[in-house]
Amino acid sequence: MMLLSNLSACRACGSSQLRLGLDLGRLPLANSFLSRQRAMDATPDPLYPLRVFRCENCGLIQLLDVVDKKEMFDDYVFLTSTARTTVLHFDRYAEELTKRLSLNSEDLVVDIGSNDGTLLKAFKQRGTRVLGIEPAHNLAIRATKEGIPTLNEYLGPETVERIGRSQSRLVTANNVVSHVNDLNGFMKTVSMLLAPQGLFAFEVPWVVDVMHNYNFDIIYHEHLSYFGFKPLARVLESHNLELIDLQQFPEIHGGTLRGLASHTDAFAKRSDVLKKAFLNEERGASFQALEQFANQVYSIKTRLSEMLHRLKKEGKKIVGYGAPAKATILLNYCSIDRSVLDFVTDTTPLKQGRFVPGVRIPIVSPNELGKSRPDYALLLAWNFKDEIVQKEQEYLKSGGKFIIPFPEPRILN
Ligand code: TMP
Ligand code: ZN
Repeated sequence: MMLLSNLSACRACGSSQLRLGLDLGRLPLANSFLSRQRAMDATPDPLYPLRVFRCENCGLIQLLDVVDKKEMFDDYVFLTSTARTTVLHFDRYAEELTKRLSLNSEDLVVDIGSNDGTLLKAFKQRGTRVLGIEPAHNLAIRATKEGIPTLNEYLGPETVERIGRSQSRLVTANNVVSHVNDLNGFMKTVSMLLAPQGLFAFEVPWVVDVMHNYNFDIIYHEHLSYFGFKPLARVLESHNLELIDLQQFPEIHGGTLRGLASHTDAFAKRSDVLKKAFLNEERGASFQALEQFANQVYSIKTRLSEMLHRLKKEGKKIVGYGAPAKATILLNYCSIDRSVLDFVTDTTPLKQGRFVPGVRIPIVSPNELGKSRPDYALLLAWNFKDEIVQKEQEYLKSGGKFIIPFPEPRILN
């Protein structure tokens, strides 16, 4: 296993004024869930440094240690369609943008990082042409079978040559831009793909919310940038694109922002909304904010471990609920292993039977919750708290409790 590179310049602006603000140590790749055979092998799982820097020139908060993307994305276990909240969100997304652009059967929507095709299905139902671009082989095949044409590749200039320049009325990229190492190359390609009157819509977790809520577990090797729209707007501008609008979705992944961009001067710009976000970033994504965030992260680690160890001493049975990528980070960073959690449940069939890397906790179906009736379930998929609490009424009624890690570890009442 190897590190692809260690950058010495900001991926947005090229400056070398980079300051280290948070060091999470060496951790496993968040989505590298282990097969049973691998989990039984005593050879330790590969660990990679996870350090968060801030560019003092443009303000972008980012990782500089870049793991070879082949190791992360060729076979992917995350499925968009497993959470009802997400499916609903994408349905509204399609509804809104279909109306906003008056999309019809002539128009083409291209989704970059299309996963299992959930978003494109919603556009297709509304009568537009759709095309997915998805590097994970297993997902591209699955989506194509389900009627969503999908190119199994990373977006690059060759992709645009295949599709045709300026062909896409709408280019979408959700939870993708944060994964991109060559940010400038990516935006250049999007600009080539986008029709003159087209929109580029992308969703990212907003760094201001991430730090405000202490959600350090979304920091993992795949997530190379933690945006700020101010640094992002500058990158867009250098490729003749313009950020024109922002929308906030607090309930998605613990706080998601959707940015909308177009070719320069193609659409009216909502300057008030943009200004407000930029102003918030001045304080909420400053180096001081990053340092404060780091202190909170260290403190959450201590408090969560103390709480779980106290409960264990009292003889309580504890499990984990949900095995999102975030769980790998939280569990490994806080050294919560199988001596603390008997198992972790997850609805994704691809994850069941595998193990959380590093701490090697087995992943099982949520049915196990009813069968083994633990006293506590650590809510690792905390971003779906409402959906999960609603679904697990039986567990709660029988006396089971949830522990939520953020903004501070506590037992849910
Ligand atoms: P995400 O936070 O990266 O979207 O991943 C959510 C994970 O949580 C995914 O692996 C599915 C899992 N999950 C459950 O196990 N039960 C649930 O009720 C929900 C909503 C998600
Ligand atoms: Zn920079």
